[in-house]
Amino acid sequence: MATNRTFTMIKPDAVRNGHMGNILQMIQAAGFRILAMKYTQITEEQAKKFYEVHAERPFYGELTQFMSSGPIVAAILEKDNAVADFRSLIGATNPAQAAEGTIRRKYANSVGENAVHGSDSDENAAIEGDFFFNRLERF
Ligand code: RTP
Ligand code: MG
Repeated sequence: MATNRTFTMIKPDAVRNGHMGNILQMIQAAGFRILAMKYTQITEEQAKKFYEVHAERPFYGELTQFMSSGPIVAAILEKDNAVADFRSLIGATNPAQAAEGTIRRKYANSVGENAVHGSDSDENAAIEGDFFFNRLERF
């Protein structure tokens, strides 16, 4: 059964390019409530841990270096059907294939530097949220 939470990061490229405010605006306008949020930078070790499921993929090194290259915004979001609806809002992994009006279509430049992360399942949303936030940081 679908739960009502997902986890997101505004990735270093989008922060660097000044899109943080516009992306948060789109997230809120789409009806997601921010349950937890922080502006932070992760180490390469932490990025490797976060993306452990992709350890065997050819882009793992590039991905973990990029994700630790600058500050990000991490957040837990709440909405009915959160995981699927958020992935619709962000669009396809490759921004060139992302639908018109999606966050990645508007703000991402490449498949590697694609502006936002969105959880791919309820189970991973919970794991990823727990990676960044303790109980006292959720409202
Ligand atoms: P995300 O986890 O960041 O929301 O993205 P996603 O589900 O759409 O894509 P996923 O398959 O989980 O891949 C995670 C991230 O790895 C980078 N990637 N690079 N160079 C490449 O071919 C490639 N493929 C994936 C992207 O930053 C992708 O978001
Ligand atoms: Mg993914």
